[in-house]
Order: sequence, then C-alpha cells, then structure tokens
Amino acid sequence: MSLIDDLEQLEAQARELVSEASTEEGLEAARVALLGRKGELTGLMRMMGKLAPEERPLVGRRANEIRAAVESLFNSRMEAMRREAQERRLAAEAIDITLPGTRPAIGHQHLISQIIEEIEDVFCGIGYTVESGPQVESSYYNFTALNAPTDHPSRSARDTFYVVDNAPGSVSHPEEHAHGESDILLRTQTSGVQIHTMETQEPPIYMIAPGRVFRPDTADASHLPQFNQVEGLVVDRGITFGDLKGTLDHFVRAMFGEDRRTRYRPHFFPFTEPSCEIDVSCGVCHGEGCSFCKHSGWIEILGAGMVDPNVLMNCGIDPEEFSGFAFGAGVERIAALRYDLPDLRTLMTGDMRFLAQF
Ligand code: DAH
Repeated sequence: MSLIDDLEQLEAQARELVSEASTEEGLEAARVALLGRKGELTGLMRMMGKLAPEERPLVGRRANEIRAAVESLFNSRMEAMRREAQERRLAAEAIDITLPGTRPAIGHQHLISQIIEEIEDVFCGIGYTVESGPQVESSYYNFTALNAPTDHPSRSARDTFYVVDNAPGSVSHPEEHAHGESDILLRTQTSGVQIHTMETQEPPIYMIAPGRVFRPDTADASHLPQFNQVEGLVVDRGITFGDLKGTLDHFVRAMFGEDRRTRYRPHFFPFTEPSCEIDVSCGVCHGEGCSFCKHSGWIEILGAGMVDPNVLMNCGIDPEEFSGFAFGAGVERIAALRYDLPDLRTLMTGDMRFLAQF
C-alpha cells in the first residue's frame, strides 16, 4: 500500500506548503506543483494502473478523497488570502465620512459692484437704460464735445493720464482732427458716455452709465487714482430742473434712506448750465453737525445740471426741441458714506478680512 502512503505524504506536504505560502503567487506555484497536469498527484494517479485490480477501488477512493481535501485546502487558503488583501486595501483607502469636510470658499461681489448694481436697480426701476463707453477715450469725448474749453485745467497732464498725445490717425473724432487735436487718454469722467449715447440714440434718452475712471492722484484715504462713477443723462421734450430735482431726490432717498434731506448748491460744470452740487443730510448727526460732516450737517454726493445746449448741438440734437439734465456720482464715495469707511484704499487692497464684511 505504498501508493496510499505516498498520497498521504502528499497531503501532509500540501498542508505544509499551504501554511508556509505567504503570497498568492507562492500558493499558486505550490498548487501547480502538486495538483497541476504535470504535478505530483497526477504522477501518483498514473501509477494506479500498475495496482492489482482488487486494490484499485480502495486506493482510487482514497486518492480521490485526498485530491478533494488538498484542492479544498488550496482553495480556501487562496480565498482567505484574497479576502485579507481586499481588507488591507479597503483599510488603506478608507475615508472617514464623519470628518468635517473642507468648505469651498465661495466668493461674492465686491462692495463697489454691489453698489453699482443697486444704483442700476434704482434707475432701471424708473425706466432708465444702462449704457457704457470706452475707458481709453479720445479727448473729444472726454472734454471737447462736453463743452470743455481747450484751456480747461482738467485737460492738463497733471489731471489726465494721456496715452497718446496729439497722434493723428488714432481713434479720435473727425472734428477733433479738424482742430488738429486727437489725444488719447484714460477717461477722467464717465460724462463722455453722454456723447456716445446721444450720437447713437435718438431722444427720448433716459440712461445711466457706471464705469471706471482714472486720474493722476496719489492714493490716500479719500483719493484713488482709479475709481468708479455713475453718469446719468436724460434728454427729452420739456425736461426741467424740476425733473432733475425729483429724480435725484428719489435716487438719494433710495440709496441712503427715506428720512434724508437734500440740498442743491450752485456750481460749475462745462457741460451743464445751470449746474449744481447736491448734498445729502448727514446720516450720523441728522444735520446737527458732527465731525463726519465737518460740522456742516451736509455731505456732498452728486454733481448735476441741465445739459448745456452746446453739448446737445455737438451731438446733432436741437436744443430748441429737446432739453435734458445730467448727473454724476462717485461710487467709492457713496460706499464710504454708506459704511463709514475711513480709508478708500481698503477697497483696492483685496484684503478679504475687510471685503468679506460686505
Ligand atoms: N463729471 C463730473 C466729475 O467727474 C461729475 C458730473 C457733474 C457729471 C455734473 C455730470 C454732471 O453729468 O451733470 O466731477
């Protein structure tokens, strides 16, 4: 019965190999060596043919038992190894879904953009359109068409950033060329959008034009070399100073509160006649006088006036038929008044601790 001994020895050897194998590859190699087509068990099985016929059933049954036992030994070890590998992988990749996540930082509009939108809402609510014009502008649109005399001090290089000085053939206005003048500059005011609008649209015009303007000022608490204005223009039949006053009173109260009073002071602008500056009653002392309003009870907020007939004529609009009013406000100034900002530069620095408050 040495064949049975050999088979039992093979089984013992299998147990040893299975317990020694530390990798799936090692276990598979051992299985092939014992159970494969050229493996030891196959070799032993072949020897059955040499047994006496009466021995065959007994040895055959034992051989089958051993083969089944050895196969299941390998199979269950392989399964266990795979399970362990899987568990190791899952453990390594585990994500603790109970940990707090990383909140994405969600941005929001800059204070200046918020205020511009608020102003747009006020004027769109009474039927105005929102217009825009180029920031790089010709002196015709920034000054000449707005009735500014050629020697007006604001035209000097101390008050205006020039891009191209007297360069013929640039994007200036034909009339400007005729005057031998075609300067290109960074616009110092949004008032030039009045001209662009009147050149491209027929009255009635009811528009505002928010946008960036530039001046060679050194930044300090109350000045920025680059800031935002909102221009306004109305041109229609029969427009009077009463329309200007009613409209701007509405605007000031919508922006600062229904309890605010307004004051219209005579002033001069080249493009309006008559012109005025508009003050709003101080929100801190309600007109009593305090350090915020420099003890006057009033805070200057807008420039405005009735559109000068020369400006209408420069745009081909008959001042006998149409009249209008215009106004301009500084957006950073409105922000400073609304939120009592001590330094306009904070609006430009990008410091999130400041900006996130609004
Ligand atoms: N452009 C003026 C400025 O920058 C503001 C202004 C005043 C605009 C009166 C107007 C206006 O349209 O009528 O100071």
